[in-house]
Amino acid sequence: MGFVQNGTEKRVKILIYGRTGWIGGLLGRLCEEKGVDFAYGTARLEDRAKLEADLAEAEPTHVLNAAGVTGRPNVDWCESHRVETIRANVVGTLTLVDVCRLRGVLVVNFATGCIFEYDESHKLGSGVGFTEDDSPNFVGSFYSKTKATVEELLRNYDNVCTLRVRMPISSDLQNPRNFITKITRYDKVVDIPNSMTVLDELLPISIEMARRNLTGVWNFTNPGVVSHNEILEMYKEYVDPAFTWKNFTLEEQATVIVAPRSNNELDASKLKAEFPELLSIKESLLRYVFQPYAKNRDSA
Ligand SMILES: NC(=O)c1ccc[n+]([C@@H]2O[C@H](COP(=O)([O-])OP(=O)(O)OC[C@H]3O[C@@H](n4cnc5c(N)ncnc54)[C@H](OP(=O)(O)O)[C@@H]3O)[C@@H](O)[C@H]2O)c1
Repeated sequence: MGFVQNGTEKRVKILIYGRTGWIGGLLGRLCEEKGVDFAYGTARLEDRAKLEADLAEAEPTHVLNAAGVTGRPNVDWCESHRVETIRANVVGTLTLVDVCRLRGVLVVNFATGCIFEYDESHKLGSGVGFTEDDSPNFVGSFYSKTKATVEELLRNYDNVCTLRVRMPISSDLQNPRNFITKITRYDKVVDIPNSMTVLDELLPISIEMARRNLTGVWNFTNPGVVSHNEILEMYKEYVDPAFTWKNFTLEEQATVIVAPRSNNELDASKLKAEFPELLSIKESLLRYVFQPYAKNRDSA
């Protein structure tokens, strides 16, 4: 599929890493729907020779990297699998970006915003979010530590667009990776406002960011914050009126997880300036998740 840049048609060919993953799978389906020329990469990220072969074969203009270790059933896995986590998230990501730079290929990297936590200058409820210029202040989990390290190193590469994803949400309420699904299945949940990413709205934007050849760091969340309880109230209103839940404190949560989790607000104004139509997190939840769910159910 061509796109117009400086008045001339330019070829776009996307190579996606993370075929078997949640975000990588969604990206492939989106490219199909939009008629974007794409292929999946087959290399492990740390395999430089195989990456070079992938790039030579596909000749992409852009790589979307949604490959990385997130841990199963959750990021606590990374605490006890440190070398495997480094291999994919540090060695692998850096190798991919380095190989792409040598070939003049732009990498849109699905990174994480879970490298910040509320602090004195960014207090919970203050509305002051971390910006793209802020350096990570949360390395409480090994997963976050690898991601924070790589984000800082990647700032030196001019062929990278770093997308700080947070607590991703999709309209697929059966998907166990979906933040909504996760919190509806927990025995108890904390209740803390956070920045979050509605994938149905933001993944198409990531493809557009590639087409616009955007680089640098981007807070890749909907503007504003939403708390666990606010989401569960929407769930109760739109999905299951009989739904109930129990809250617990951060101290109580710490007894059932291994590594601490990050809670923060990211300042999404840079993304909003580039995409003025971007909805606030609560609007996006209604527009892309809860209202379509209710509409589909009522028309079934
Ligand atoms: N889901 C979240 O909560 C969340 C939040 C913020 C950011 N992110 C980031 O977004 C990215 C995608 O997340 P996701 O939820 O889609 O993850 P996912 O479902 O766990 O998928 C990860 C993908 O990465 C691949 N992979 C892992 N190690 C690899 C390696 N060394 N070389 C090549 N491929 C490798 C996996 O392939 P195999 O199955 O073959 O190993 C899989 O396709 C990750 O970098 C993650 O850190 C996710």
